[in-house]
Amino acid sequence: MPDEFTVTPWEVKGKVDYDKLIIQFGTQKVTESLKQRMKNIVGDLHVMLRRNIFFSHRDLDLILDDYEKGNGFFLYTGRAPSLGMHIGHLIPFIFTKWLQEKFNVNVYIEITDDEKFMRNPEYTLDQTRSWAYDNILDIIAVGFNPDKTFIFQDTEYIRNMYPIAIKIAKKLTFSEVRATFGLDVSSNIGIIFYPALQIAPTMFEKRRCLIPAGIDQDPYWRLQRDIAESLGYYKAAQIHSKFLPPLTGPEGKMSSSNPETAIYLVDDPKTVERKIMKYAFSGGQPTIELHRKYGGNPEIDVAFQWLYYFFEEDDKRIAEIEEEYRSGKMLTGELKQILIEKLNNFLEEHRRKREEAKELVHVYKYDGKLASEMWKKIHE
Ligand code: TYM
Repeated sequence: MPDEFTVTPWEVKGKVDYDKLIIQFGTQKVTESLKQRMKNIVGDLHVMLRRNIFFSHRDLDLILDDYEKGNGFFLYTGRAPSLGMHIGHLIPFIFTKWLQEKFNVNVYIEITDDEKFMRNPEYTLDQTRSWAYDNILDIIAVGFNPDKTFIFQDTEYIRNMYPIAIKIAKKLTFSEVRATFGLDVSSNIGIIFYPALQIAPTMFEKRRCLIPAGIDQDPYWRLQRDIAESLGYYKAAQIHSKFLPPLTGPEGKMSSSNPETAIYLVDDPKTVERKIMKYAFSGGQPTIELHRKYGGNPEIDVAFQWLYYFFEEDDKRIAEIEEEYRSGKMLTGELKQILIEKLNNFLEEHRRKREEAKELVHVYKYDGKLASEMWKKIHE
Protein backbone atom coordinates (compact mmCIF):
# COMPACT_ATOMS: atom_id res chain seq x y z
CA MET A 1 0.00 0.00 0.00
CA PRO A 2 1.50 3.33 -1.03
CA ASP A 3 0.89 5.41 2.08
CA GLU A 4 1.56 2.89 4.82
CA PHE A 5 3.85 4.09 7.54
CA THR A 6 4.89 3.25 11.09
CA VAL A 7 5.93 5.62 13.88
CA THR A 8 7.11 4.18 17.19
CA PRO A 9 9.82 5.36 19.62
CA TRP A 10 12.20 2.88 17.95
CA GLU A 11 11.25 2.91 14.33
CA VAL A 12 9.93 5.28 11.70
CA LYS A 13 9.13 3.55 8.42
CA GLY A 14 7.57 4.69 5.17
CA LYS A 15 6.42 8.14 4.13
CA VAL A 16 4.79 9.60 7.21
CA ASP A 17 1.43 11.27 6.65
CA TYR A 18 1.54 13.81 9.46
CA ASP A 19 -2.14 14.76 9.20
CA LYS A 20 -3.09 11.12 9.59
CA LEU A 21 -0.70 10.80 12.52
CA ILE A 22 -2.49 13.62 14.35
CA ILE A 23 -5.69 11.60 14.07
CA GLN A 24 -4.01 8.28 14.93
CA PHE A 25 -2.28 9.68 18.02
CA GLY A 26 -5.19 11.90 19.02
CA THR A 27 -3.14 15.12 19.14
CA GLN A 28 -4.02 18.63 17.94
CA LYS A 29 -2.72 20.50 14.94
CA VAL A 30 -0.61 23.61 15.66
CA THR A 31 -3.01 26.00 13.96
CA GLU A 32 -2.30 29.41 12.46
CA SER A 33 -4.28 31.03 15.25
CA LEU A 34 -2.27 29.26 17.96
CA LYS A 35 0.94 30.38 16.25
CA GLN A 36 -0.39 33.93 16.05
CA ARG A 37 -1.19 33.82 19.76
CA MET A 38 2.34 32.73 20.53
CA LYS A 39 3.74 35.42 18.28
CA ASN A 40 1.69 38.04 20.12
CA ILE A 41 3.18 36.86 23.40
CA VAL A 42 6.86 36.47 22.49
CA GLY A 43 7.24 38.82 19.52
CA ASP A 44 8.26 36.40 16.77
CA LEU A 45 8.07 32.76 15.68
CA HIS A 46 10.89 30.27 15.35
CA VAL A 47 11.52 29.05 11.81
CA MET A 48 10.41 25.54 12.84
CA LEU A 49 7.03 26.96 13.88
CA ARG A 50 6.64 29.21 10.84
CA ARG A 51 7.23 26.18 8.60
CA ASN A 52 5.17 23.71 10.63
CA ILE A 53 8.12 21.46 11.47
CA PHE A 54 6.61 21.55 14.97
CA PHE A 55 3.17 20.67 13.70
CA SER A 56 1.25 18.95 16.48
CA HIS A 57 0.60 19.52 20.17
CA ARG A 58 -1.38 18.74 23.27
CA ASP A 59 -2.40 21.53 25.66
CA LEU A 60 -0.07 24.15 24.19
CA ASP A 61 -2.98 26.56 24.61
CA LEU A 62 -3.09 25.75 28.35
CA ILE A 63 0.67 26.38 28.58
CA LEU A 64 0.11 29.84 27.10
CA ASP A 65 -2.81 30.42 29.51
CA ASP A 66 -0.59 29.45 32.45
CA TYR A 67 2.16 31.73 31.21
CA GLU A 68 -0.19 34.67 30.80
CA LYS A 69 -1.70 34.11 34.24
CA GLY A 70 1.79 34.19 35.74
CA ASN A 71 1.77 30.52 36.85
CA GLY A 72 4.59 29.71 34.46
CA PHE A 73 5.53 26.29 33.13
CA PHE A 74 8.68 24.26 32.57
CA LEU A 75 10.28 22.50 29.62
CA TYR A 76 11.45 18.90 29.49
CA THR A 77 13.16 16.95 26.72
CA GLY A 78 15.73 14.16 26.42
CA ARG A 79 18.07 11.93 24.57
CA ALA A 80 19.05 8.25 24.60
CA PRO A 81 22.81 8.56 24.12
CA SER A 82 24.46 6.96 21.13
CA LEU A 83 27.83 7.07 19.43
CA GLY A 84 27.51 10.48 17.78
CA MET A 85 24.44 12.66 17.36
CA HIS A 86 23.20 13.52 13.89
CA ILE A 87 21.64 16.78 12.73
CA GLY A 88 18.07 15.42 13.18
CA HIS A 89 18.69 14.94 16.90
CA LEU A 90 19.32 18.66 17.29
CA ILE A 91 15.82 19.65 16.19
CA PRO A 92 14.10 19.35 19.61
CA PHE A 93 17.07 20.92 21.40
CA ILE A 94 17.32 23.94 19.12
CA PHE A 95 13.61 24.53 19.50
CA THR A 96 13.61 23.98 23.26
CA LYS A 97 16.41 26.52 23.60
CA TRP A 98 14.33 29.05 21.68
CA LEU A 99 11.33 28.44 23.95
CA GLN A 100 13.54 28.82 27.02
CA GLU A 101 14.87 32.12 25.74
CA LYS A 102 11.44 33.48 24.88
CA PHE A 103 9.61 32.39 28.02
CA ASN A 104 12.57 32.45 30.44
CA VAL A 105 11.70 29.06 31.95
CA ASN A 106 13.49 26.04 33.41
CA VAL A 107 14.60 23.21 31.10
CA TYR A 108 15.20 19.62 32.24
CA ILE A 109 17.11 17.33 29.89
CA GLU A 110 17.10 13.61 30.61
CA ILE A 111 19.98 11.52 29.27
CA THR A 112 18.80 7.93 29.27
CA ASP A 113 22.01 5.94 29.43
CA ASP A 114 19.93 3.22 31.17
CA GLU A 115 17.34 3.01 28.37
CA LYS A 116 19.99 2.71 25.68
CA PHE A 117 21.80 -0.01 27.63
CA MET A 118 18.68 -2.05 28.41
CA ARG A 119 17.22 -1.83 24.93
CA ASN A 120 20.28 -2.96 22.98
CA PRO A 121 21.79 -6.37 23.76
CA GLU A 122 25.10 -5.38 22.14
CA TYR A 123 25.82 -2.22 24.19
CA THR A 124 27.67 -2.19 27.49
CA LEU A 125 26.79 0.24 30.26
CA ASP A 126 30.29 1.72 30.02
CA GLN A 127 29.59 2.52 26.39
CA THR A 128 26.24 4.22 26.94
CA ARG A 129 27.65 6.23 29.83
CA SER A 130 30.57 7.48 27.79
CA TRP A 131 28.25 8.36 24.90
CA ALA A 132 26.17 10.29 27.44
CA TYR A 133 29.13 12.54 28.17
CA ASP A 134 29.74 13.01 24.49
CA ASN A 135 26.12 13.77 23.62
CA ILE A 136 25.84 16.19 26.55
CA LEU A 137 28.58 18.28 24.91
CA ASP A 138 26.47 18.54 21.75
CA ILE A 139 23.41 19.49 23.79
CA ILE A 140 25.28 22.15 25.79
CA ALA A 141 26.62 23.55 22.50
CA VAL A 142 23.02 24.48 21.60
CA GLY A 143 23.29 27.24 24.20
CA PHE A 144 20.81 26.70 27.05
CA ASN A 145 20.72 29.16 29.93
CA PRO A 146 23.09 27.57 32.51
CA ASP A 147 21.13 28.98 35.48
CA LYS A 148 17.86 27.48 34.31
CA THR A 149 18.93 24.18 32.78
CA PHE A 150 19.51 20.81 34.41
CA ILE A 151 21.02 18.00 32.35
CA PHE A 152 20.89 14.71 34.19
CA GLN A 153 21.93 11.19 33.41
CA ASP A 154 19.54 8.51 34.67
CA THR A 155 22.22 6.23 36.13
CA GLU A 156 23.49 9.16 38.23
CA TYR A 157 20.33 10.98 39.17
CA ILE A 158 18.26 7.86 39.89
CA ARG A 159 18.26 8.39 43.65
CA ASN A 160 16.19 11.55 43.31
CA MET A 161 13.98 10.17 40.55
CA TYR A 162 13.21 6.85 42.16
CA PRO A 163 10.47 7.93 44.61
CA ILE A 164 8.44 9.59 41.87
CA ALA A 165 9.22 6.78 39.40
CA ILE A 166 7.82 4.09 41.70
CA LYS A 167 4.64 6.12 42.27
CA ILE A 168 4.24 6.22 38.49
CA ALA A 169 5.15 2.54 38.10
CA LYS A 170 2.51 1.55 40.64
CA LYS A 171 -0.17 3.22 38.49
CA LEU A 172 0.83 1.45 35.27
CA THR A 173 0.03 -2.17 34.55
CA PHE A 174 2.19 -4.48 32.48
CA SER A 175 -0.65 -4.91 30.04
CA GLU A 176 -0.89 -1.12 29.42
CA VAL A 177 2.86 -0.77 28.97
CA ARG A 178 3.00 -3.87 26.83
CA ALA A 179 0.24 -2.60 24.56
CA THR A 180 1.70 0.92 24.34
CA PHE A 181 5.22 -0.15 23.46
CA GLY A 182 4.64 -3.50 21.79
CA LEU A 183 6.56 -5.43 24.47
CA ASP A 184 6.06 -9.11 25.18
CA VAL A 185 6.83 -11.55 27.96
CA SER A 186 10.34 -12.04 26.63
CA SER A 187 11.16 -8.31 27.11
CA ASN A 188 13.69 -7.70 29.85
CA ILE A 189 12.13 -6.31 33.02
CA GLY A 190 14.27 -3.15 32.91
CA ILE A 191 12.61 -1.99 29.74
CA ILE A 192 9.19 -2.74 31.21
CA PHE A 193 9.92 -0.38 34.12
CA TYR A 194 11.71 2.21 31.99
CA PRO A 195 8.60 4.25 30.98
CA ALA A 196 8.29 5.32 34.63
CA LEU A 197 11.73 6.91 34.31
CA GLN A 198 10.90 8.80 31.15
CA ILE A 199 7.65 10.02 32.70
CA ALA A 200 9.19 11.04 36.06
CA PRO A 201 10.69 14.39 34.90
CA THR A 202 7.22 15.60 33.84
CA MET A 203 6.62 15.74 37.61
CA PHE A 204 9.80 17.59 38.61
CA GLU A 205 7.74 20.72 39.27
CA LYS A 206 4.17 21.26 40.35
CA ARG A 207 3.63 23.47 37.30
CA ARG A 208 2.60 22.34 33.85
CA CYS A 209 5.32 20.67 31.81
CA LEU A 210 5.79 21.28 28.08
CA ILE A 211 7.72 18.63 26.15
CA PRO A 212 9.22 19.54 22.78
CA ALA A 213 10.25 16.30 21.02
CA GLY A 214 9.83 14.27 17.87
CA ILE A 215 6.36 12.76 17.66
CA ASP A 216 7.88 9.26 18.00
CA GLN A 217 8.09 9.83 21.78
CA ASP A 218 4.34 10.34 22.08
CA PRO A 219 3.42 6.92 23.57
CA TYR A 220 5.19 7.87 26.81
CA TRP A 221 3.13 11.03 27.12
CA ARG A 222 -0.13 9.19 26.52
CA LEU A 223 0.62 7.04 29.56
CA GLN A 224 1.68 10.11 31.54
CA ARG A 225 -1.61 11.83 30.79
CA ASP A 226 -3.60 8.81 31.98
CA ILE A 227 -2.08 8.92 35.45
CA ALA A 228 -0.64 12.38 36.18
CA GLU A 229 -3.70 13.90 37.81
CA SER A 230 -4.21 10.93 40.11
CA LEU A 231 -0.71 11.66 41.45
CA GLY A 232 -1.45 15.36 41.93
CA TYR A 233 0.38 16.63 38.83
CA TYR A 234 -0.65 18.19 35.54
CA LYS A 235 -1.06 16.22 32.38
CA ALA A 236 2.08 17.03 30.39
CA ALA A 237 1.68 19.27 27.37
CA GLN A 238 3.64 18.51 24.22
CA ILE A 239 4.75 20.09 21.00
CA HIS A 240 5.76 17.49 18.42
CA SER A 241 8.11 17.75 15.48
CA LYS A 242 8.26 16.01 12.16
CA PHE A 243 11.32 13.92 11.34
CA LEU A 244 14.26 15.24 9.43
CA PRO A 245 14.38 12.84 6.47
CA PRO A 246 17.46 10.69 5.87
CA LEU A 247 19.77 11.40 2.93
CA THR A 248 18.17 8.55 1.04
CA GLY A 249 14.81 10.23 0.55
CA PRO A 250 11.52 11.33 2.08
CA GLU A 251 10.76 7.99 3.75
CA GLY A 252 11.53 7.16 7.39
CA LYS A 253 13.69 9.38 9.59
CA MET A 254 17.36 10.18 9.80
CA SER A 255 18.66 7.53 12.13
CA SER A 256 22.02 6.54 13.55
CA SER A 257 21.70 2.96 12.39
CA ASN A 258 22.95 3.73 8.88
CA PRO A 259 25.91 6.17 8.91
CA GLU A 260 25.75 6.84 5.19
CA THR A 261 22.21 8.22 5.44
CA ALA A 262 22.89 10.70 8.25
CA ILE A 263 25.10 13.73 8.74
CA TYR A 264 26.78 13.54 12.11
CA LEU A 265 27.70 16.59 14.12
CA VAL A 266 31.35 15.48 13.88
CA ASP A 267 31.37 15.05 10.08
CA ASP A 268 34.09 17.23 8.55
CA PRO A 269 33.46 19.46 5.51
CA LYS A 270 34.78 16.87 3.03
CA THR A 271 32.60 14.12 4.48
CA VAL A 272 29.54 16.38 4.37
CA GLU A 273 30.22 17.24 0.74
CA ARG A 274 30.84 13.63 -0.24
CA LYS A 275 27.72 12.30 1.48
CA ILE A 276 25.46 14.97 0.05
CA MET A 277 26.80 14.80 -3.48
CA LYS A 278 26.73 11.00 -3.48
CA TYR A 279 23.63 10.11 -1.50
CA ALA A 280 21.21 13.04 -1.10
CA PHE A 281 18.00 11.95 -2.80
CA SER A 282 17.21 14.33 -5.61
CA GLY A 283 13.87 15.66 -6.80
CA GLY A 284 15.51 16.68 -10.07
CA GLN A 285 15.15 15.25 -13.55
CA PRO A 286 17.57 12.63 -14.96
CA THR A 287 19.18 15.03 -17.47
CA ILE A 288 19.88 18.77 -17.51
CA GLU A 289 17.65 19.19 -20.57
CA LEU A 290 14.72 17.49 -18.89
CA HIS A 291 15.35 19.42 -15.68
CA ARG A 292 15.32 22.76 -17.50
CA LYS A 293 12.09 21.71 -19.20
CA TYR A 294 10.14 20.12 -16.32
CA GLY A 295 11.90 21.46 -13.21
CA GLY A 296 12.58 19.73 -9.89
CA ASN A 297 10.30 18.58 -7.10
CA PRO A 298 11.26 20.23 -3.79
CA GLU A 299 8.77 18.10 -1.79
CA ILE A 300 10.90 14.99 -2.26
CA ASP A 301 14.31 16.61 -2.65
CA VAL A 302 16.34 16.01 0.51
CA ALA A 303 18.67 18.98 0.02
CA PHE A 304 15.68 21.29 -0.29
CA GLN A 305 13.91 19.68 2.66
CA TRP A 306 16.88 20.12 4.96
CA LEU A 307 17.21 23.77 3.95
CA TYR A 308 13.49 24.14 4.61
CA TYR A 309 13.59 22.46 8.05
CA PHE A 310 16.05 25.00 9.40
CA PHE A 311 19.31 25.41 7.54
CA GLU A 312 17.95 28.33 5.48
CA GLU A 313 16.06 30.45 7.97
CA ASP A 314 15.37 33.35 5.64
CA ASP A 315 11.79 32.95 4.37
CA LYS A 316 12.35 35.10 1.30
CA ARG A 317 15.46 33.16 0.29
CA ILE A 318 13.85 29.75 0.75
CA ALA A 319 10.91 30.85 -1.39
CA GLU A 320 13.34 31.96 -4.14
CA ILE A 321 15.22 28.66 -3.98
CA GLU A 322 11.96 26.73 -4.17
CA GLU A 323 10.76 28.71 -7.15
CA GLU A 324 14.06 28.43 -9.04
CA TYR A 325 14.30 24.70 -8.41
CA ARG A 326 10.70 24.05 -9.34
CA SER A 327 11.02 26.02 -12.56
CA GLY A 328 14.19 24.21 -13.61
CA LYS A 329 16.37 27.31 -13.39
CA MET A 330 18.30 25.81 -10.46
CA LEU A 331 19.92 22.40 -10.94
CA THR A 332 20.18 19.68 -8.31
CA GLY A 333 23.96 20.16 -8.09
CA GLU A 334 23.50 23.87 -7.38
CA LEU A 335 20.89 23.18 -4.73
CA LYS A 336 23.20 20.66 -3.09
CA GLN A 337 26.01 23.22 -3.06
CA ILE A 338 23.80 25.69 -1.20
CA LEU A 339 23.06 23.04 1.41
CA ILE A 340 26.70 21.95 1.73
CA GLU A 341 27.79 25.50 2.45
CA LYS A 342 25.04 26.15 4.99
CA LEU A 343 25.57 22.82 6.69
CA ASN A 344 29.34 23.19 6.92
CA ASN A 345 29.04 26.69 8.39
CA PHE A 346 26.52 25.39 10.90
CA LEU A 347 28.71 22.43 11.86
CA GLU A 348 31.85 24.52 12.16
CA GLU A 349 30.11 26.85 14.60
CA HIS A 350 28.63 23.87 16.45
CA ARG A 351 32.04 22.26 16.89
CA ARG A 352 33.48 25.50 18.24
CA LYS A 353 30.71 25.69 20.85
CA ARG A 354 31.16 22.00 21.56
CA GLU A 355 34.79 22.61 22.52
CA GLU A 356 33.68 25.36 24.91
CA ALA A 357 31.06 23.00 26.33
CA LYS A 358 33.80 20.81 27.81
CA GLU A 359 34.31 23.46 30.49
CA LEU A 360 30.58 23.67 31.21
CA VAL A 361 29.52 20.06 31.77
CA HIS A 362 29.82 20.44 35.52
CA VAL A 363 27.70 23.59 35.51
CA TYR A 364 24.75 22.00 33.67
CA LYS A 365 24.93 18.70 35.55
CA TYR A 366 25.79 19.75 39.10
CA ASP A 367 26.77 23.33 39.90
CA GLY A 368 24.41 25.62 37.98
CA LYS A 369 21.58 27.26 39.89
CA LEU A 370 18.84 24.82 38.86
CA ALA A 371 21.20 21.83 38.84
CA SER A 372 22.36 22.35 42.41
CA GLU A 373 18.78 22.96 43.59
CA MET A 374 17.75 19.66 42.01
CA TRP A 375 20.54 17.69 43.66
CA LYS A 376 19.51 19.10 47.04
CA LYS A 377 15.89 18.15 46.55
CA ILE A 378 14.68 14.72 47.60
CA HIS A 379 11.16 13.88 46.46
CA GLU A 380 8.84 12.67 49.15
P1 TYM B 1 16.31 9.71 21.01
O1 TYM B 1 17.70 9.77 21.55
O2 TYM B 1 15.94 8.59 20.10
O3 TYM B 1 16.00 11.06 20.27
C1 TYM B 1 16.24 12.32 20.87
C2 TYM B 1 15.26 13.33 20.31
O4 TYM B 1 15.50 13.51 18.91
C3 TYM B 1 14.29 13.31 18.18
N1 TYM B 1 14.68 12.77 16.86
C4 TYM B 1 14.45 13.40 15.71
N2 TYM B 1 13.85 14.58 15.47
C5 TYM B 1 13.74 14.97 14.18
N3 TYM B 1 14.23 14.25 13.13
C6 TYM B 1 14.86 13.06 13.33
N4 TYM B 1 15.33 12.36 12.30
C7 TYM B 1 15.00 12.59 14.68
N5 TYM B 1 15.53 11.48 15.26
C8 TYM B 1 15.33 11.61 16.59
C9 TYM B 1 13.46 12.37 19.04
O5 TYM B 1 12.10 12.48 18.74
C10 TYM B 1 13.79 12.91 20.44
O6 TYM B 1 13.00 14.05 20.73
N6 TYM B 1 13.56 7.86 24.85
C11 TYM B 1 14.14 9.08 24.28
C12 TYM B 1 14.98 9.86 25.28
C13 TYM B 1 14.13 10.74 26.15
C14 TYM B 1 13.30 11.82 25.71
C15 TYM B 1 12.70 12.34 26.90
C16 TYM B 1 13.05 12.37 24.46
C17 TYM B 1 14.00 10.67 27.51
N7 TYM B 1 13.14 11.63 27.96
C18 TYM B 1 11.84 13.43 26.81
C19 TYM B 1 12.19 13.45 24.38
C20 TYM B 1 11.58 13.97 25.56
C21 TYM B 1 14.96 8.70 23.05
O7 TYM B 1 15.28 7.58 22.82
O8 TYM B 1 15.30 9.79 22.25
